[in-house]
Amino acid sequence: MKLVTVLCIGDVFGEPGRRALAHFLPRLRDEFEVDLVVANVENAAAGFGITPALARQLLGGGVDVMTSGNHIWDKKEILEYIVRENLLLRPANYPPGTPGVGSIVVKARTEKVGVLNLQGRAFMATIDCPFRTADEEVARLRADTPIVLVDMHAEATSEKQAMGWYLAGRVSAVVGTHSHVQTADERILPGGTAYLTDLGLTGPIDSVIGVAREQAIQRFLTGMPNRFEPAKGRARVQGAVIRIEPATGHAVGIERIQRDLAP
Ligand SMILES: [Fe+2]
Repeated sequence: MKLVTVLCIGDVFGEPGRRALAHFLPRLRDEFEVDLVVANVENAAAGFGITPALARQLLGGGVDVMTSGNHIWDKKEILEYIVRENLLLRPANYPPGTPGVGSIVVKARTEKVGVLNLQGRAFMATIDCPFRTADEEVARLRADTPIVLVDMHAEATSEKQAMGWYLAGRVSAVVGTHSHVQTADERILPGGTAYLTDLGLTGPIDSVIGVAREQAIQRFLTGMPNRFEPAKGRARVQGAVIRIEPATGHAVGIERIQRDLAP
């Protein structure tokens, strides 16, 4: 049976990230014969949140499911949108009553794929436990399909690795987002779970995790809450391509990708 190919895109940051993604996504879809594109979009609007217009633009541009994290509420107008558009996920472990959903099952070619968005708690807001939420959500999704992808949006490498091991053998992939620096630890964990600590940044190359260098340096020098804007200039796409056996949901391969726009 033909493998299901999923392209996971690291945090799309501001206009440079959107520009790089618009350029490379059609090419990547062709090159890897991608069945499903999952992108973390919580920094798509100038580094802070996402607007309904940008969400629609990303869906129109070939992104199938959008995940997010701690910046999801930055733009107030997203509150109305997220309750209507379930293809924009917010972390599932936000407390009950939070608008939107944290997981979804979509069709990729002929197969159903579950996508689950979680957020870590180490050095981040103390929302509900992502591990216990994962237990509930993964069981629910697996009742529908053996193919389940997890975006673990977290600051701490340890918390992302722990989630990878915790879900090993229960999901097809655990990929990390939020730190905006791609890690080189891609592997298949026992039980067929593809793992990567961080997908990286889809955004400006010459930046401090997406932000204009001089602004980030100034904040470190002074400790003052100065304005942060996306860096200008060269941009790239980072992420990973994961191949999954449809019958078992086991991942058989994970490959990091990086594509730089010409200067
Ligand atoms: Fe984040």
